[in-house]
Amino acid sequence: MKICTDPSQMQSIALSLREQGKTIGFVPTMGFLHEGHASLIRIARSKCDFLIVSIFVNPLQFGENEDLDTYPTDHESDERLCTTEGVDLIFRPLSLYDTNHNTYVNVKQLTERLCGASRPTHFQGVCTVVARLFGLVQPNIAVFGEKDYQQLAVIRQFVRDLAMPIDIIGAPLIRDEDGVALSSRNQYLNPDQRIQAQTISQALFSVQAELKKTALDVHSIRQLVRQILDVDELDYLECIDPVLLVPVTNIDKPTRLLIAAWVGQTRLIDNILLEP
Ligand code: PAJ
Repeated sequence: MKICTDPSQMQSIALSLREQGKTIGFVPTMGFLHEGHASLIRIARSKCDFLIVSIFVNPLQFGENEDLDTYPTDHESDERLCTTEGVDLIFRPLSLYDTNHNTYVNVKQLTERLCGASRPTHFQGVCTVVARLFGLVQPNIAVFGEKDYQQLAVIRQFVRDLAMPIDIIGAPLIRDEDGVALSSRNQYLNPDQRIQAQTISQALFSVQAELKKTALDVHSIRQLVRQILDVDELDYLECIDPVLLVPVTNIDKPTRLLIAAWVGQTRLIDNILLEP
């Protein structure tokens, strides 16, 4: 497995692979890799000749008072995971933007609600880095997790709108044994907070189970979730159309239930598919 830290070298490698007719698969990450990332890597591995994983903690997508400075890293463990999963190259640049970088990718509408409401510059940062990474890595396919459900939808939209010839593949959300959605940020939780975090997935599963027994509208879902949820602050709880991401009031077709909540200083997100 190669490790490349230089953006222009990365692009030369990618262009030469494409010239040789190789298909490139890509999994962009911010590192501190876990089983959720590994599941994306496995999906990508089965669909390409050459597999690239990027590791870059992208300053552009962090708000002023967010956790950019404390975001966890562990190069050795990331490299081990990538080797085990058959990654061909890790792209781990120290910096990614030129000093006079002046182009930002801004997806409208989809980014204005949910996570975008409390993190107004977040998706612009995500789309800008992903667009730049796509330019450097030249992927045929790229895999993103449904854990970040809105992010996946936003990336699909910009790739479609900008006519990028890249197949965007969504991958299922992976949980820990206690139900908590795997996230590099779970690292921040102390044992009591971990128990609080469990109530997020417990609430989601309870709604799913209740829906098997009886019809529910959004109002009753909110009530049920509030009974179970033990977090410090609920950012949002929304039932949305899984494709358009617009709120629904009745669960009469497949719907995505999304939660964002604060446990201490940590913002956690989770979601589940509801089927009536
Ligand atoms: P990061 O949080 O490292 O996540 C990288 C990819 O792993 C994303 O597509 C995310 O949805 C996926 N992922 C994380 N936890 C997961 C889980 N429990 N189950 C399934 N997939 C999971 O998302 C980012 O980084 C950044 O915004 C990035 C796209 C790299 C741009 O900087």
